[in-house]
Amino acid sequence: MQLRQIEDLELNGKKVFLRLDLNVPIKNGKIQDETRIREALPTIKYILERTNKLTMASHLGRPKNGGSPQDSLEPVGARLSELLEREVVLYPDYTKESSAQLLTSLGKNQVMLLENLRFHSGEEANNIDFAHSLVDGYDFYVNDAFGTCHRAHASVSAAAELLSPERRAAGYLIQKEITALGSIVTKPEAPFTVIMGGSKVSDKIAVILNLLNTCNHMLIGGAMAYTFLKFKGIDVGSSRVEADKMDLVETILRNADARKVQIHLPVDHLCAKEFSETAEAVAVAGGAIPQGLMGLDIGPETQKIFARVIRDSKTVLWNGPMGVFEWDKFATGTMAIAGAMAEVRGKTIVGGGDSVSAVQKSGFAAKMTHISTGGGASLEFLEGKVLPGIKVLLK
Ligand code: 3PG
Repeated sequence: MQLRQIEDLELNGKKVFLRLDLNVPIKNGKIQDETRIREALPTIKYILERTNKLTMASHLGRPKNGGSPQDSLEPVGARLSELLEREVVLYPDYTKESSAQLLTSLGKNQVMLLENLRFHSGEEANNIDFAHSLVDGYDFYVNDAFGTCHRAHASVSAAAELLSPERRAAGYLIQKEITALGSIVTKPEAPFTVIMGGSKVSDKIAVILNLLNTCNHMLIGGAMAYTFLKFKGIDVGSSRVEADKMDLVETILRNADARKVQIHLPVDHLCAKEFSETAEAVAVAGGAIPQGLMGLDIGPETQKIFARVIRDSKTVLWNGPMGVFEWDKFATGTMAIAGAMAEVRGKTIVGGGDSVSAVQKSGFAAKMTHISTGGGASLEFLEGKVLPGIKVLLK
């Protein structure tokens, strides 16, 4: 996959439109996790070393009906301003007056940030007029919003196409993500182990089937494991099961068999009588879960088996927690996975979403080779799809 890269552009003194994914969690005006902001810095700095005519744009959340003040990018602008040591001017009215026009009147130490793109319905509709209002007047279009590349939205897709191919490029974060995740899809070093967790088989079916082409082991935890156990005729008590998705499990197991991939399911569990943080944790030895109990985490024997497979691997990809890791009582299995990954002498990749919060909670984040900033985007990439935001940046 050959991308047009930011280094290919002659940026000196030119006007640059930069699409970022600054969609960070914010509570009461306070940023809870600024990873995505920090990951955007190398590209922003590279551009600012060459030109100060920079406009940054991002969405935040999924605002309804034109958005409200709590959906504003204002806290993100304030944090960027601290990190860049420049004034970040938040521009709300870019559909009325072109931001490229306004950019010329900014001071040397100022950069522009467009207010939440999703305040405008044209963004998600990939509307061409909205795309024009974003990039008309710019010399270059740079996309570094890896987390949004699976969305064919105006700032990601239509706007990019308004500039000729040699005037658009990918920033450093997209390059980093594609290199790390791409190596897994194409030629991972064996033994390659995939750890799949989370609640639903149906959410992950496409990615599981694609990864079965290259992996040697697949460890299955989280609620999706109970659907597999049920398919095998093992009792799962009142655990969450996708009863209508047994055909998917059958397809996965058939494919795994054909490709000689070893599927590992939990052999013991940590259960509770009800789905509650205060519920008592009950250890259940053996694969079957008695009536009246639901599985909320993998048990100690499963942790040991999974950890052994992980430590013996040269490449490991992790997507999805092993249990309800947000509750300390049911976090042990997920934390054990993070710990085992930290000991791998090879490549360890955490593929976005909940597993990123889990690895951060575990304290082992710094030990991973790559932690993706994409949730849905990483999954779709790992499914083997060419994401719309990447497609427009290909050479
Ligand atoms: C994400 O958080 O995964 C991206 O920012 C995309 O957000 P979306 O799922 O709301 O499109």
